[in-house]
Amino acid sequence: MTKTIAVLGAGTMGHGIAQVCAQAGYAVRLRDIDESATKRGLDAIQQMLSKGVIKEKMTQEQANAALAHITTTTELAAAVADADLIIEAVPERLDLKQRVFADVLAHASSDAILATNTSSIPIADIGATLKAEARSRLIGLHFFNPVPLMPLLEIVTSQDTSGATLKAARDLAERIGKDAIVVKDTPGFATSRLGVAIGLEAIRMLEEGVANAEDIDKAMTLGYKHPMGPLRLTDLVGLDVRLHIAETLTTKLGERFTPPQLLRDKVAKGKLGKKTGEGFHVWP
Ligand code: CAA
Repeated sequence: MTKTIAVLGAGTMGHGIAQVCAQAGYAVRLRDIDESATKRGLDAIQQMLSKGVIKEKMTQEQANAALAHITTTTELAAAVADADLIIEAVPERLDLKQRVFADVLAHASSDAILATNTSSIPIADIGATLKAEARSRLIGLHFFNPVPLMPLLEIVTSQDTSGATLKAARDLAERIGKDAIVVKDTPGFATSRLGVAIGLEAIRMLEEGVANAEDIDKAMTLGYKHPMGPLRLTDLVGLDVRLHIAETLTTKLGERFTPPQLLRDKVAKGKLGKKTGEGFHVWP
């Protein structure tokens, strides 16, 4: 049974995953490469919990208890030693994720579940450099931003993922209160493939002058009842993140996912969305 969870990467997704696991009572070790990153992650968790208390979604005692379940570290060995479940949430690069799991295996217990929060890279590609036994413990656990508010957990199984690993993933989903879907290991899975298709088309429409960003977003919020328009959502996710996903999907699924030039230009200028204050919209 899972008691201790290591989350590797304290960025937008990593700190959100750490928070929901801590709220469910797991002992969580949040790891990033330097202390400023772990501090930013912990600060963001504190802010989210405080807002949750203000909105009466939890008591101050529950928020305090969640925080008390989280420790931070910059040492990979300390994070993963004795952890039952290790979730990587590092940037969306295949070589980096493969390197992380190679390092993890050197320090983790031999029966730990290995999970990746990749949003588009096939699990089989990430596991390609691992031995078959380790691949049986590898699974995709795809969370959604903002993690504490989004009800879905997309579980992705490769051909090698064992039944016991899938069961552990389903148990986690239930305990953290997420609805799980189980998806075959295909590029972009179910969620990113659909979400990015709409997002890229919205950027192409902006390039072509079909309407301004505000109105393209309204088309989907008011016309289709999406909670957020596709351009604002791209800002929330991060333009750099979406660009990486689009590049992966172009390689795997073809031209229809080719990133629009406007997306490349904005990323090159550092306009990455909410986290930098500007993307397709300005974020005060
Ligand atoms: N703690 C607990 N609950 C909170 C909270 C907090 N800190 N902050 C807000 N809430 C609650 C609110 O009380 C409210 O609850 P009720 O519905 O019970 O009233 C609910 O959460 C919504 O909050 P708000 O009213 O403040 O905000 P909103 O209605 O504007 O919704 C949103 C915000 C949930 C982000 C919404 O805009 C949304 O769903 N946007 C789309 C997000 C999305 O699509 N994310 C996926 C991105 S793709 C991805 O992440 C995957 C990837 O691979 C990159």
